[in-house]
Amino acid sequence: MAREWVTNVSHVEHDTFASLARARRRRARSDMSHARASPASGAREVGGRARGRGRASRARATASRALRGADGEHSTARDFVHIRNVCYSPAGAGRDILRDVNLSLPRKGLTLIVGRSGSGKSTLMTILAGLSEPTSGVVALGADETRASTPSAERLAQVGIVFQFPERHFLGTTMLQELTFAWPQTQNGFTKRRELAYRMNDALHAVGMERIPLDTDVRALSGGYKRRLALAIQLVRDPAVLCLDEPLAGLDWQTRAEVTALLNDLKRDRAVVVVSHDVEEISPVTDRAYRMENMGVLTDVSDELAGARASAFGAAADSFASFD
Ligand SMILES: Nc1ncnc2c1ncn2[C@@H]1O[C@H](COP(=O)(O)OP(=O)(O)OP(=O)(O)O)[C@@H](O)[C@H]1O
Ligand SMILES: [Mg+2]
Repeated sequence: MAREWVTNVSHVEHDTFASLARARRRRARSDMSHARASPASGAREVGGRARGRGRASRARATASRALRGADGEHSTARDFVHIRNVCYSPAGAGRDILRDVNLSLPRKGLTLIVGRSGSGKSTLMTILAGLSEPTSGVVALGADETRASTPSAERLAQVGIVFQFPERHFLGTTMLQELTFAWPQTQNGFTKRRELAYRMNDALHAVGMERIPLDTDVRALSGGYKRRLALAIQLVRDPAVLCLDEPLAGLDWQTRAEVTALLNDLKRDRAVVVVSHDVEEISPVTDRAYRMENMGVLTDVSDELAGARASAFGAAADSFASFD
Protein backbone atom coordinates (compact mmCIF):
# COMPACT_ATOMS: atom_id res chain seq x y z
CA MET A 1 0.00 0.00 0.00
CA ALA A 2 2.68 2.44 1.10
CA ARG A 3 4.83 1.45 -1.83
CA GLU A 4 1.96 1.94 -4.31
CA TRP A 5 1.42 5.36 -2.86
CA VAL A 6 5.08 6.19 -3.15
CA THR A 7 5.13 5.04 -6.76
CA ASN A 8 2.06 7.11 -7.55
CA VAL A 9 3.51 10.23 -6.00
CA SER A 10 6.67 9.65 -7.98
CA HIS A 11 4.82 9.57 -11.27
CA VAL A 12 2.44 12.43 -10.52
CA GLU A 13 5.23 14.71 -9.38
CA HIS A 14 7.71 13.53 -11.98
CA ASP A 15 7.26 16.43 -14.42
CA THR A 16 7.33 19.10 -11.72
CA PHE A 17 10.56 17.71 -10.33
CA ALA A 18 12.02 17.29 -13.78
CA SER A 19 11.52 20.99 -14.49
CA LEU A 20 12.82 21.98 -11.06
CA ALA A 21 15.91 19.85 -11.58
CA ARG A 22 16.43 21.30 -15.08
CA ALA A 23 16.19 24.83 -13.65
CA ARG A 24 18.68 23.90 -10.93
CA ARG A 25 21.09 22.42 -13.47
CA ARG A 26 20.76 25.54 -15.67
CA ARG A 27 21.51 27.71 -12.63
CA ALA A 28 24.54 25.62 -11.75
CA ARG A 29 25.83 25.75 -15.34
CA SER A 30 25.37 29.51 -15.48
CA ASP A 31 27.20 29.86 -12.13
CA MET A 32 30.02 27.73 -13.46
CA SER A 33 30.36 29.60 -16.75
CA HIS A 34 30.25 32.89 -14.84
CA ALA A 35 32.98 31.64 -12.54
CA ARG A 36 35.06 30.55 -15.51
CA ALA A 37 34.41 33.79 -17.41
CA SER A 38 35.31 36.11 -14.53
CA PRO A 39 39.08 35.57 -14.40
CA ALA A 40 39.30 35.91 -18.20
CA SER A 41 37.34 39.17 -18.25
CA GLY A 42 39.48 40.47 -15.39
CA ALA A 43 42.58 39.71 -17.46
CA ARG A 44 41.76 41.79 -20.52
CA GLU A 45 44.77 44.02 -19.88
CA VAL A 46 48.07 43.43 -18.16
CA GLY A 47 46.97 45.23 -15.00
CA GLY A 48 43.83 43.14 -15.00
CA ARG A 49 45.92 39.99 -15.18
CA ALA A 50 47.98 41.08 -12.22
CA ARG A 51 44.84 41.84 -10.25
CA GLY A 52 43.45 38.45 -11.33
CA ARG A 53 46.55 36.72 -10.02
CA GLY A 54 46.28 38.72 -6.81
CA ARG A 55 42.74 37.52 -6.39
CA ALA A 56 43.78 33.94 -7.14
CA SER A 57 46.52 33.98 -4.52
CA ARG A 58 44.15 35.56 -2.00
CA ALA A 59 41.67 32.79 -2.80
CA ARG A 60 44.38 30.18 -2.22
CA ALA A 61 45.27 31.85 1.08
CA THR A 62 41.60 31.79 2.10
CA ALA A 63 41.41 28.10 1.19
CA SER A 64 44.51 27.44 3.26
CA ARG A 65 43.04 29.30 6.24
CA ALA A 66 40.01 27.05 6.04
CA LEU A 67 42.33 24.12 6.72
CA ARG A 68 43.61 25.32 10.06
CA GLY A 69 41.58 22.74 11.92
CA ALA A 70 43.86 19.99 10.66
CA ASP A 71 46.71 21.51 12.59
CA GLY A 72 44.76 21.52 15.79
CA GLU A 73 43.84 25.21 15.62
CA HIS A 74 40.31 26.42 16.21
CA SER A 75 37.81 26.03 13.44
CA THR A 76 36.33 29.10 11.78
CA ALA A 77 32.80 30.42 12.23
CA ARG A 78 31.77 29.19 8.79
CA ASP A 79 32.83 25.60 9.51
CA PHE A 80 30.13 23.00 9.95
CA VAL A 81 32.03 19.86 10.96
CA HIS A 82 34.24 20.10 14.03
CA ILE A 83 36.35 17.10 14.97
CA ARG A 84 38.49 17.88 17.99
CA ASN A 85 41.12 15.69 19.65
CA VAL A 86 39.34 12.51 18.66
CA CYS A 87 40.85 9.27 19.93
CA TYR A 88 39.54 5.81 19.12
CA SER A 89 40.77 2.67 20.84
CA PRO A 90 38.14 -0.04 20.43
CA ALA A 91 38.13 -2.87 22.94
CA GLY A 92 40.17 -5.71 21.56
CA ALA A 93 42.27 -3.58 19.21
CA GLY A 94 44.93 -3.23 21.89
CA ARG A 95 46.09 0.07 20.41
CA ASP A 96 44.92 3.51 19.34
CA ILE A 97 43.38 3.46 15.88
CA LEU A 98 42.96 7.25 15.97
CA ARG A 99 44.93 9.54 18.25
CA ASP A 100 44.17 13.25 18.71
CA VAL A 101 42.59 13.76 15.30
CA ASN A 102 41.51 17.32 14.45
CA LEU A 103 39.57 18.34 11.38
CA SER A 104 37.19 21.20 10.56
CA LEU A 105 35.15 21.37 7.39
CA PRO A 106 33.02 24.12 5.88
CA ARG A 107 29.35 23.60 5.08
CA LYS A 108 29.96 23.08 1.36
CA GLY A 109 32.69 21.78 -0.88
CA LEU A 110 34.64 18.60 -1.43
CA THR A 111 37.32 17.45 0.98
CA LEU A 112 39.60 14.67 -0.15
CA ILE A 113 41.37 12.46 2.37
CA VAL A 114 44.23 10.35 1.09
CA GLY A 115 46.56 8.09 2.99
CA ARG A 116 48.09 4.68 3.33
CA SER A 117 45.99 1.64 3.96
CA GLY A 118 45.27 1.18 7.64
CA SER A 119 45.88 4.82 8.61
CA GLY A 120 42.28 5.18 9.85
CA LYS A 121 40.41 6.94 7.02
CA SER A 122 37.33 4.70 7.04
CA THR A 123 37.31 4.63 10.83
CA LEU A 124 37.16 8.43 10.98
CA MET A 125 34.28 8.48 8.50
CA THR A 126 32.25 5.93 10.46
CA ILE A 127 32.75 8.02 13.60
CA LEU A 128 31.70 11.19 11.79
CA ALA A 129 28.62 9.40 10.46
CA GLY A 130 27.57 8.34 13.97
CA LEU A 131 28.16 4.62 13.35
CA SER A 132 30.75 4.46 16.12
CA GLU A 133 31.63 6.65 19.07
CA PRO A 134 35.11 8.02 19.68
CA THR A 135 36.79 6.91 22.90
CA SER A 136 37.40 10.59 23.66
CA GLY A 137 37.21 13.94 21.92
CA VAL A 138 34.47 15.89 20.21
CA VAL A 139 32.59 15.34 16.96
CA ALA A 140 30.21 18.26 16.53
CA LEU A 141 28.05 19.41 13.63
CA GLY A 142 26.71 22.92 13.23
CA ALA A 143 27.81 26.51 13.17
CA ASP A 144 28.70 26.61 16.86
CA GLU A 145 32.30 25.44 16.98
CA THR A 146 32.34 25.40 20.78
CA ARG A 147 29.46 22.97 21.16
CA ALA A 148 29.88 19.57 22.71
CA SER A 149 29.64 16.39 20.65
CA THR A 150 26.58 15.94 18.50
CA PRO A 151 24.86 12.74 19.69
CA SER A 152 25.42 9.78 17.36
CA ALA A 153 21.69 9.56 16.50
CA GLU A 154 21.80 13.14 15.24
CA ARG A 155 25.02 12.48 13.32
CA LEU A 156 23.36 9.46 11.74
CA ALA A 157 20.54 11.74 10.60
CA GLN A 158 22.78 14.51 9.28
CA VAL A 159 25.61 12.52 7.73
CA GLY A 160 25.20 10.08 4.85
CA ILE A 161 27.87 7.48 4.23
CA VAL A 162 28.47 5.44 1.09
CA PHE A 163 30.81 2.56 1.80
CA GLN A 164 33.29 1.08 -0.64
CA PHE A 165 31.44 -1.17 -3.13
CA PRO A 166 28.00 -0.13 -1.77
CA GLU A 167 26.27 -2.25 -4.38
CA ARG A 168 27.45 -5.37 -2.55
CA HIS A 169 25.17 -4.39 0.31
CA PHE A 170 21.96 -3.96 -1.68
CA LEU A 171 19.17 -5.85 0.06
CA GLY A 172 16.18 -5.24 -2.18
CA THR A 173 15.30 -6.56 -5.62
CA THR A 174 14.02 -3.42 -7.31
CA MET A 175 15.28 0.14 -7.26
CA LEU A 176 12.19 1.19 -5.33
CA GLN A 177 12.82 -1.42 -2.65
CA GLU A 178 16.39 -0.19 -2.26
CA LEU A 179 15.37 3.44 -2.12
CA THR A 180 12.58 2.92 0.42
CA PHE A 181 14.19 0.21 2.51
CA ALA A 182 14.62 2.20 5.72
CA TRP A 183 11.50 4.31 5.43
CA PRO A 184 9.00 4.29 8.31
CA GLN A 185 6.28 1.72 7.67
CA THR A 186 3.82 2.62 10.40
CA GLN A 187 0.52 4.39 9.79
CA ASN A 188 1.70 7.59 11.49
CA GLY A 189 4.86 7.63 9.37
CA PHE A 190 2.77 8.98 6.50
CA THR A 191 4.06 12.57 6.64
CA LYS A 192 7.65 11.39 6.78
CA ARG A 193 7.07 8.98 3.87
CA ARG A 194 5.57 11.77 1.81
CA GLU A 195 8.59 13.99 2.52
CA LEU A 196 10.94 11.14 1.56
CA ALA A 197 8.99 10.46 -1.64
CA TYR A 198 9.41 14.06 -2.74
CA ARG A 199 13.10 13.90 -2.00
CA MET A 200 13.42 10.58 -3.84
CA ASN A 201 12.50 12.26 -7.11
CA ASP A 202 15.03 15.00 -6.45
CA ALA A 203 17.71 12.46 -5.53
CA LEU A 204 17.12 10.40 -8.67
CA HIS A 205 17.41 13.56 -10.77
CA ALA A 206 20.60 14.51 -8.97
CA VAL A 207 22.24 11.21 -9.94
CA GLY A 208 20.75 11.16 -13.45
CA MET A 209 18.46 8.15 -12.89
CA GLU A 210 15.10 9.88 -13.21
CA ARG A 211 14.20 8.05 -16.39
CA ILE A 212 14.89 4.56 -15.11
CA PRO A 213 11.70 2.77 -13.99
CA LEU A 214 11.57 2.22 -10.26
CA ASP A 215 10.72 -1.46 -10.69
CA THR A 216 14.05 -2.10 -12.45
CA ASP A 217 15.93 -5.03 -10.95
CA VAL A 218 19.02 -3.57 -9.24
CA ARG A 219 21.08 -6.52 -10.49
CA ALA A 220 20.33 -5.43 -14.05
CA LEU A 221 21.91 -1.99 -13.51
CA SER A 222 25.42 -1.33 -14.77
CA GLY A 223 28.21 -0.84 -12.23
CA GLY A 224 28.03 2.93 -12.61
CA TYR A 225 24.27 3.03 -12.15
CA LYS A 226 24.50 0.82 -9.07
CA ARG A 227 26.95 3.35 -7.63
CA ARG A 228 24.59 6.19 -8.56
CA LEU A 229 21.72 4.37 -6.87
CA ALA A 230 23.77 3.98 -3.70
CA LEU A 231 24.36 7.73 -3.77
CA ALA A 232 20.66 8.42 -4.39
CA ILE A 233 19.71 6.28 -1.38
CA GLN A 234 21.79 8.60 0.79
CA LEU A 235 20.61 11.77 -0.98
CA VAL A 236 16.98 10.92 -0.22
CA ARG A 237 17.90 11.59 3.39
CA ASP A 238 19.25 14.98 2.29
CA PRO A 239 22.33 14.77 4.51
CA ALA A 240 24.25 17.92 5.37
CA VAL A 241 27.46 15.91 5.06
CA LEU A 242 28.05 13.11 2.58
CA CYS A 243 30.96 10.71 3.15
CA LEU A 244 32.15 8.44 0.36
CA ASP A 245 34.71 5.69 0.81
CA GLU A 246 36.57 4.98 -2.43
CA PRO A 247 33.70 6.05 -4.72
CA LEU A 248 35.61 5.20 -7.92
CA ALA A 249 36.82 1.75 -6.88
CA GLY A 250 35.99 -0.98 -9.36
CA LEU A 251 34.50 1.34 -12.01
CA ASP A 252 35.59 1.64 -15.65
CA TRP A 253 37.22 4.90 -16.79
CA GLN A 254 34.10 6.39 -18.30
CA THR A 255 31.96 5.69 -15.25
CA ARG A 256 34.71 7.07 -13.02
CA ALA A 257 34.55 10.33 -14.95
CA GLU A 258 30.75 10.39 -14.60
CA VAL A 259 30.83 9.75 -10.87
CA THR A 260 33.51 12.43 -10.46
CA ALA A 261 31.29 14.92 -12.32
CA LEU A 262 28.43 13.90 -10.05
CA LEU A 263 30.55 14.61 -6.96
CA ASN A 264 31.27 18.03 -8.42
CA ASP A 265 27.49 18.67 -8.53
CA LEU A 266 26.78 17.26 -5.08
CA LYS A 267 29.39 19.39 -3.32
CA ARG A 268 27.53 22.57 -4.28
CA ASP A 269 24.82 21.88 -1.71
CA ARG A 270 26.65 20.06 1.08
CA ALA A 271 29.96 19.06 2.58
CA VAL A 272 31.29 16.05 0.68
CA VAL A 273 34.11 14.03 2.23
CA VAL A 274 35.83 11.60 -0.11
CA VAL A 275 38.37 9.00 0.92
CA SER A 276 40.18 7.87 -2.19
CA HIS A 277 43.41 6.65 -3.63
CA ASP A 278 42.36 8.03 -7.03
CA VAL A 279 43.90 11.45 -6.46
CA GLU A 280 44.45 12.29 -10.09
CA GLU A 281 40.80 11.85 -10.99
CA ILE A 282 39.26 13.45 -7.90
CA SER A 283 41.69 16.36 -7.58
CA PRO A 284 40.03 18.56 -10.25
CA VAL A 285 36.85 18.69 -8.13
CA THR A 286 38.64 18.90 -4.77
CA ASP A 287 38.48 22.07 -2.66
CA ARG A 288 40.76 20.94 0.16
CA ALA A 289 42.85 17.85 0.75
CA TYR A 290 44.44 16.09 3.69
CA ARG A 291 46.90 13.27 3.92
CA MET A 292 46.25 10.86 6.77
CA GLU A 293 49.17 9.21 8.42
CA ASN A 294 49.33 6.56 11.08
CA MET A 295 46.62 6.83 13.78
CA GLY A 296 44.68 9.41 11.81
CA VAL A 297 47.19 12.24 11.92
CA LEU A 298 46.09 14.71 9.25
CA THR A 299 48.29 17.04 7.23
CA ASP A 300 46.91 19.73 4.98
CA VAL A 301 48.09 18.96 1.45
CA SER A 302 45.78 21.34 -0.42
CA ASP A 303 48.63 23.48 -1.68
CA GLU A 304 50.54 20.41 -2.83
CA LEU A 305 47.47 19.30 -4.70
CA ALA A 306 46.91 22.75 -6.21
CA GLY A 307 50.55 22.79 -7.27
CA ALA A 308 50.21 19.38 -8.86
CA ARG A 309 47.10 20.56 -10.70
CA ALA A 310 48.80 23.74 -11.92
CA SER A 311 51.68 21.75 -13.38
CA ALA A 312 49.48 19.01 -14.71
CA PHE A 313 51.63 18.77 -17.82
CA GLY A 314 54.88 19.14 -15.93
CA ALA A 315 55.94 17.57 -12.69
CA ALA A 316 52.49 16.34 -11.72
CA ALA A 317 53.59 12.75 -11.44
CA ASP A 318 56.25 13.71 -8.86
CA SER A 319 53.72 15.65 -6.77
CA PHE A 320 51.12 12.94 -6.87
CA ALA A 321 53.66 10.44 -5.66
CA SER A 322 53.71 12.26 -2.32
CA PHE A 323 50.08 11.34 -1.72
CA ASP A 324 50.80 7.63 -1.49
N1 LIG B 1 36.87 -2.08 15.61
C1 LIG B 1 38.14 -2.32 15.35
N2 LIG B 1 38.85 -3.19 16.11
C2 LIG B 1 40.13 -3.43 15.84
N3 LIG B 1 40.83 -2.84 14.87
C3 LIG B 1 40.19 -1.97 14.09
C4 LIG B 1 38.82 -1.65 14.28
N4 LIG B 1 38.46 -0.75 13.35
C5 LIG B 1 39.55 -0.51 12.60
N5 LIG B 1 40.59 -1.26 13.05
C6 LIG B 1 41.96 -1.22 12.51
O1 LIG B 1 42.30 0.15 12.41
C7 LIG B 1 43.16 0.39 11.31
C8 LIG B 1 42.56 1.48 10.45
O2 LIG B 1 41.50 0.92 9.70
P1 LIG B 1 40.73 1.72 8.56
O3 LIG B 1 39.84 0.75 7.90
O4 LIG B 1 40.13 2.92 9.15
O5 LIG B 1 41.93 2.13 7.60
P2 LIG B 1 41.87 2.84 6.18
O6 LIG B 1 42.77 4.01 6.25
O7 LIG B 1 40.48 3.07 5.80
O8 LIG B 1 42.54 1.74 5.25
P3 LIG B 1 42.21 1.37 3.71
O9 LIG B 1 42.87 2.43 2.87
O10 LIG B 1 42.85 0.03 3.54
O11 LIG B 1 40.74 1.30 3.53
C9 LIG B 1 43.32 -0.95 10.61
O12 LIG B 1 44.55 -1.50 11.03
C10 LIG B 1 42.15 -1.76 11.11
O13 LIG B 1 42.47 -3.13 11.12
MG1 LIG C 1 39.21 2.26 4.32
